[in-house]
Amino acid sequence: MKFLFLNGPNLNLLGLREPDIYGTRDYAALEDFIRRTCEEEGVECEIFQSNHEGVLVDKIQLAYGQFDGIVINPAAYTHTSVAILDALKAVAIPAVEVHLSDVSSREAFRQVSYAGMACVQTYAGLGFEGYAAAARFLKKYLSQNEKV
Ligand code: DQA
Repeated sequence: MKFLFLNGPNLNLLGLREPDIYGTRDYAALEDFIRRTCEEEGVECEIFQSNHEGVLVDKIQLAYGQFDGIVINPAAYTHTSVAILDALKAVAIPAVEVHLSDVSSREAFRQVSYAGMACVQTYAGLGFEGYAAAARFLKKYLSQNEKV
């Protein structure tokens, strides 16, 4: 099984950006955490971050036929991007949405998730652990939905 982890804008500034909301660990620590989780779960992974919507769309398109699952934190694009929603729907790779913070208890504009409409599950407010929960969920989901 091979999973693509996609992170959207400003997540490269983890540790620096609003540490009271996103924590003090940096993006390299998140990458380490994801890699360790995938090793433990016995799944292959690629991790990618971009501040650009079209680059994220390109990466989702290129995932077609290459990855079994996608874990995506579209960051601010969660709340604005129909293009990312459409890309996820187009490739139809099972995807799980992750947010470090509990978006449901934040500003009104964070209550809409376009990408989430194409995802089979969402984890929010669990910090780094949300990515591990997403990987474990996807692994189980894919095993249960294996074609015979
Ligand atoms: C975020 C939540 C988004 O609302 C925000 O724009 C982000 C990060 C999170 O991980 O909690 O950049 O996706």
